[in-house]
Amino acid sequence: MLNRRTLLASSLVSALSAAKRTYTYAEIDRMIARGDVKGKLSRADLPTPALLLELDAFESNVSKMITYVKGKNRAIRPHAKTHKCAEIAKYIIRQGAVGACAAKISEAEALAADGVTGLLITTAVIGKTKVERAMALARRRPETIFTLDNAQNAADLNDAAGAAKLKLNVALDLFVGGRTGIQPRDPAVALGETVAKLPNLKLAGLQAYAGQASHTIGFENRRKVSLEAMMPAVETRRTLEQKGIACPLLTGGSTGTYNIDTEIDGINEMQPGSFMFMDVDYNRIGGKSGEVYEDFRNSLFVSTTVVSKPKDDMAIVDGGYKAFSTDKPFPPRFRGGDAIAYAFAGDEHGRISSAGARSVHVGDRLEFIIPHCDPSVNLYDRIFGVRGDQVESVWRITARGMSQ
Ligand SMILES: Cc1ncc(COP(=O)(O)O)c(C=O)c1O
Repeated sequence: MLNRRTLLASSLVSALSAAKRTYTYAEIDRMIARGDVKGKLSRADLPTPALLLELDAFESNVSKMITYVKGKNRAIRPHAKTHKCAEIAKYIIRQGAVGACAAKISEAEALAADGVTGLLITTAVIGKTKVERAMALARRRPETIFTLDNAQNAADLNDAAGAAKLKLNVALDLFVGGRTGIQPRDPAVALGETVAKLPNLKLAGLQAYAGQASHTIGFENRRKVSLEAMMPAVETRRTLEQKGIACPLLTGGSTGTYNIDTEIDGINEMQPGSFMFMDVDYNRIGGKSGEVYEDFRNSLFVSTTVVSKPKDDMAIVDGGYKAFSTDKPFPPRFRGGDAIAYAFAGDEHGRISSAGARSVHVGDRLEFIIPHCDPSVNLYDRIFGVRGDQVESVWRITARGMSQ
């Protein structure tokens, strides 16, 4: 039978027990607003629900991925859609990444405004006003690469670049079974030929993101799905080059396929995102050597407080639909194991009615692994970097909430 002592030990952090507060809320709020937290705040001082990043695990994930990919003589440009945070993008670039991917123009604008370089926007920028914004971004950061997947968009970008006196770097987005893109092989080659003739565009290469491969359960299955998806992209690159059209870049890959796609000749850049944080979804996919995907550590948690104990065997925490993404068919997972099972109980609440509920008290802190990291991060204004019990940094999630 699980008792409180076991539960405290299994949670790994002292934050489970209500800590003695040494600051008033106003003081804490001022420190957080100034980012002046190092050596002053502990985990238990933070108002909940709070997004916590365990820096030891995060740094180890970043180092492991960059070392692996560079060891395979590939470049890495991790996707910033995962963190939406300029401080994190800049940290990763300092560790050896060539830049950061952004999912859309607004994300790229926010990151560029805070000094992130080497941006690649992974979805086409469509429509007059967004094309205008693309020109402003390219003026500010000329190395930015814009993906496109149709001839009209290529023509629009070319006209806008001509008017702005810019030479725009573009990459063709290939449909490799995921979401967006032009069909690889003949259609993509024809588009490449069109782009090569446009005077204000420079073909940087190709992008092929096979999201369906990333989460395929089981390493061997995943390898099969990824190889099948990526080979047409490799062939497209080869054909363009045989036709004399320079195609220096083929970027793709993900947390689930980084050690598959780096074995494929012709793919020379990786753009994984979730590896830095991990989540319940990625924990399930299985690794090279077993059923659990252990290549990267869970570094991201939502800290909640037990706010009510309606019954001896039921506890309510202050994190619900507004604290965790809800796009997956499984709930957040308690970091200390299965004794505490979470169920959504509304916008602001989660219910613990498993055996462990008897062992928790009102005021306890419970930390959960997030079902899906990207959309969960987007719910928060800031992310707290913690080392052990201490809060070391507070970073603004600068590109969050931007749907345009
Ligand atoms: C275009 C693109 N590239 C890369 C990634 C990163 O994938 P992951 O977070 O699975 O590593 C994503 C994620 O959705 C993506 O949309």
